[in-house]
Amino acid sequence: MTGDNEDRNCPVPSHVGIIMDGNGRWAAARGMPRGFGHKAGVDAVRKTVRAAAELGIQHVTLYAFSSENWARPAQEVRDLLGLMKLFITRDLAELCANGVRIRVIGDRQGLSADILGLVETAEIRSRDNSKLNLNIAFNYGGRDEIRRAFVKLAAQVVEQGLDPASISEADIGAALDTGAQPDPDLLIRTSGEMRLSNFMLWQAAYSEFVFLPCMWPDFDKSWLEQAIDEYSSRTRRYGGVHDAKDVAL
Ligand code: FPP
Repeated sequence: MTGDNEDRNCPVPSHVGIIMDGNGRWAAARGMPRGFGHKAGVDAVRKTVRAAAELGIQHVTLYAFSSENWARPAQEVRDLLGLMKLFITRDLAELCANGVRIRVIGDRQGLSADILGLVETAEIRSRDNSKLNLNIAFNYGGRDEIRRAFVKLAAQVVEQGLDPASISEADIGAALDTGAQPDPDLLIRTSGEMRLSNFMLWQAAYSEFVFLPCMWPDFDKSWLEQAIDEYSSRTRRYGGVHDAKDVAL
């Protein structure tokens, strides 16, 4: 597939979530340490954000560091934290110039003051941008996000004397880190692995999944277009039926 959104005759997903997997294997295949793969992974992040904006995607959520990634070797954790800091420091001006709004989702309590400061600066400086909303999932776990949402809602029940049975799915969705954003239409995972790994557990209820064989550092606009092509060929039913013919059969 070629061309930007205007040239395409297939629907482009509004929200794309990406599990960026395969950095370690990409580096190992080159006889290099894992950190080399993560560094190359940041270049793929840049290409992806640019391509998503060109294709007219409104929201992108990237799984950059999970709540479980702290269990990795100390050097690798340092590399990943360092890359996050470098990404915000070096790329914020360009992202803002391109109309990208940055939000970081995940548990902020586990983050050091320097990263927190950068995250808050990025969110404040980019908050009026509306071309593309970029969520970076950092110190993020889907179960932890749901747990934190429950804590917020339980506190509201106690403080406001609410009936617990009045809590709706919309209330739970709004209490998640993604708040009022739409659920992801398309979830992509690179590296051939086929699992969710605690990513957007609530929001992915009706997402279409596309698993790609490429390692994350090799991901680019053409892989994104391939995933969108696959997405466009699917029929989304949300638990219902597609059309009257399905009922008659
Ligand atoms: C999974 O590959 C990838 C990660 C755990 C980290 C992803 C991080 C980046 C792409 C860089 C930082 C991102 C930003 C937005 C600054 P893996 O290491 O598990 O690969 P493997 O399965 O081949 O070992």
